[in-house]
Amino acid sequence: MLRIRSRMQPSLPPCNYSAVPYQGPTAEEILALRQQHLSSAIFHYYRKPLLIVEGKAQWLFDESGRRYLDGFGGIVTVSVGHCHPRVIAAARVQNETIQHSTTIYLHPNVALYARDLAARMPGDLKVCYFVNSGSEANDLAVLMARAYTGNFDFIALRNGYHGGTAATMGLTSPHTWKFNVPQSFGVQHAQMPETYRGPYGADDPDAGQKYAGDVQSLVQFGSSGRIAGFISESIQGVGGAVVLPPGYLQHTYAHVRAAGGVCIADEVQTGFGRTGTHFWGFGAQEVIPDIVTLAKGIGNGCPLAAVITTPEIARALATRLHFNTFGGNPVSTAMGRAVLQVIDEEGLQQNCANVGAYLKAELGTLATRHSIIGQVRGQGLLLGVELVKDRTTKQPAREECAVVFERCRELGLLIGKAGIAGNTLRITPPMCVTRADADFMVAVLNQALASL
Ligand SMILES: Cc1ncc(COP(=O)(O)O)c(C=O)c1O
Repeated sequence: MLRIRSRMQPSLPPCNYSAVPYQGPTAEEILALRQQHLSSAIFHYYRKPLLIVEGKAQWLFDESGRRYLDGFGGIVTVSVGHCHPRVIAAARVQNETIQHSTTIYLHPNVALYARDLAARMPGDLKVCYFVNSGSEANDLAVLMARAYTGNFDFIALRNGYHGGTAATMGLTSPHTWKFNVPQSFGVQHAQMPETYRGPYGADDPDAGQKYAGDVQSLVQFGSSGRIAGFISESIQGVGGAVVLPPGYLQHTYAHVRAAGGVCIADEVQTGFGRTGTHFWGFGAQEVIPDIVTLAKGIGNGCPLAAVITTPEIARALATRLHFNTFGGNPVSTAMGRAVLQVIDEEGLQQNCANVGAYLKAELGTLATRHSIIGQVRGQGLLLGVELVKDRTTKQPAREECAVVFERCRELGLLIGKAGIAGNTLRITPPMCVTRADADFMVAVLNQALASL
């Protein structure tokens, strides 16, 4: 519960683990090496870059052994907690047995994992194709949709993020992630279905249906009338935890299917129980997609991603040779299986629901004290706090957001930033965080906001 204390620094909840003394190069040395040998496109957070050398559960440790609460989960990727012993054991055993074989030979892990993953999917979503990243998964999903439908045109959403490869950059919408190459060939972006700034607000019960009307309009006025597909996140993550209004996907999917297209759910951030109420984010919209893409939390940090679809759509890809060297690797699939087991055994979806609802409510209370908070949104442990200079004009508080972000780090909390204006704080911790951790996050944010 939010207790307004003095200027005393909030104390981290206790942890019985201490970091192993670090003996590697200093932060300055690593930064110098990065500047010399890594692409300058690889950016880092914080004015003074942070060196993180160890992780345990929801905790991160810097080179001095200082502990931080991880409120970002390695960009929504550490699902069951850093270095979870079950996941590490699965990787170790498999690494000592056989690390790589490819799918040209039989191996139990890829087959058993595909069975386990398919068992979590609704409807006829029973066939998996494993790849290594979210971009690759979305790229392949688009290929499948085009191969299956024989159509080319695609519809994605404004403010959506689907990856940074040439093809997925075309699906991604914010200009900040797009280069001036012909990456959006055949892709159009429908109106962003958001009820904070958009024309149809949260008080409009038909907002979902109205925003979906723009997808229909693009089919009618921006395509041949027959499209290959539609892709969207179930909650826009990089876009700032933007939740789709109720009914949006039901209406949109109907328009897409009427135009011959298939519906792709990008569950890269919203999958594996993070949203709390459902194992997959699309569940909250009461739809069953034709193709689902998974990455990030699927492997708790190992390079694993998947495309899951129906047997019928999957067959379309069998008309040519298609291959992925590392996809379905014995080690990454062993880790993926362990992640699924841990989510069940530790009740992590329920934890996302409980701690997420508690944290969101506490952030709501914080909003009553700090008028710079324009909106608290999201679901489960995928939350966003948008900062605005003025609640009426909703002018993004970009600079203030940067200050709060830096101050949180100083106080021991690492979170993310999102949205095209960089004015939304993203809170997506490992799914094992506790209410005490939530209290710490709120206390830190309260102090950071008060310092503005
Ligand atoms: C919703 C979503 N889809 C796809 C991707 C791309 O995943 P990757 O960075 O693994 O290629 C991301 C990455 O942030 C994402 O958030």
